[in-house]
Amino acid sequence: MGERVLRNWKPATRLVHEGTVRSQFGETSESIFLTQGYVYPSAEAAEARFNGEDPGFVYSRYANPTVRMFEERMAALEGAEDARATASGMAAVNTALMALVSAGDHVVAARALFGSCLYIIEDLLPRFGVQSTLVDGTDLDQWRAAVRPNTKAFFLESPTNPTLEIIDIAAVAKIAKSSGAKLIVDNVFSTPLQQRPLELGADIVVYSATKHIDGQGRVLGGVVLGDAAFIEEAHTYLKHTGPSLSPFNGWVLLKGLETLAVRVERQTANAARLADAIADHPAAVRTIYPGRRDHPQYALAQRQMKGASTMVAFEVRGGKAGAFKVASALRLIAISNNLGDAKSLITHPATTTHQRLSPEVRARLGISDGLLRLSAGIEDADDLVADIVAALEAA
Ligand SMILES: Cc1ncc(COP(=O)(O)O)c(C=O)c1O
Repeated sequence: MGERVLRNWKPATRLVHEGTVRSQFGETSESIFLTQGYVYPSAEAAEARFNGEDPGFVYSRYANPTVRMFEERMAALEGAEDARATASGMAAVNTALMALVSAGDHVVAARALFGSCLYIIEDLLPRFGVQSTLVDGTDLDQWRAAVRPNTKAFFLESPTNPTLEIIDIAAVAKIAKSSGAKLIVDNVFSTPLQQRPLELGADIVVYSATKHIDGQGRVLGGVVLGDAAFIEEAHTYLKHTGPSLSPFNGWVLLKGLETLAVRVERQTANAARLADAIADHPAAVRTIYPGRRDHPQYALAQRQMKGASTMVAFEVRGGKAGAFKVASALRLIAISNNLGDAKSLITHPATTTHQRLSPEVRARLGISDGLLRLSAGIEDADDLVADIVAALEAA
């Protein structure tokens, strides 16, 4: 798809224009190339495509023009040399790890991870001879102590799900670099607009595009980003094992990116209003929002992130029963485990997303029975605040 022209555009402009390639019809909105493959004008042309002399498309499991536009837009936005899109966020996480590790290697990961990431690191990789150590991601000494001569990758997510702890990406990146390991950051709880892990020293970024990038709850998707050599490895894994993004979903995500900046700005402002309203209510015994001065890592969040977060976590009195009463009393904010959506959504992590963890592990991660996780949408802030305050009265 031609050379990427790195113009001096700001992110909000890149989100709308970067990567667009128009057909001979000059369409305004990018086309969906809903095709499994491509035809060649001659057998010689087919041979040249397959042996790489002609860099055109050969099969949509390998690459597709619509998906490529999405990848180009993501790479430009993130400041990465290249990107590959995947069928889901988990396919992106798995692809990043599979492209990096081999039997005999070791991975160090922050223990506050999304459950399926923990499954890959703790259960799946050991079946193929890759060992792992889980650390408290906020404790830099634990990262240092966990390093072994065969440590190949560091993996972390920040802000963490659901307790919104902030891990110092630049500091962990330094430890990774001095240990010869690559740092992978799952940037799902943030967005490329709010946190730029590559600039902080990370090597690889992964996204569940299902979240803020789609932002309207329609499709699953994922992205891996990094330098050209790593993306070449990731692409080899993807094209031969098959978790590639469908052209239709690629198009939905490409269009999702166009509105990302306005959505995230509004969601962040709504999250800040909601966090203050919750913190002011006596039914909330703890409110966690990285943009509030009472967040234990407020200074780090200010340094590392641009504009706090679209997510708020809070603990209500009365444990599980109290949390259930609040969630069920909401009339506008819906109970759902997605996040980053235009619609405000709430979930009770202990009985949904983090149910798989033992009560002891949940306690260690600060996931109490009274904890609720709220993803702020783009609705009117007054309506959202009225809904949460009325529900808190029920606790
Ligand atoms: C932090 C994090 N990483 C990865 C994923 C996986 O994304 P997907 O559901 O698109 O596979 C999720 C999904 O909730 C997530 O929250």
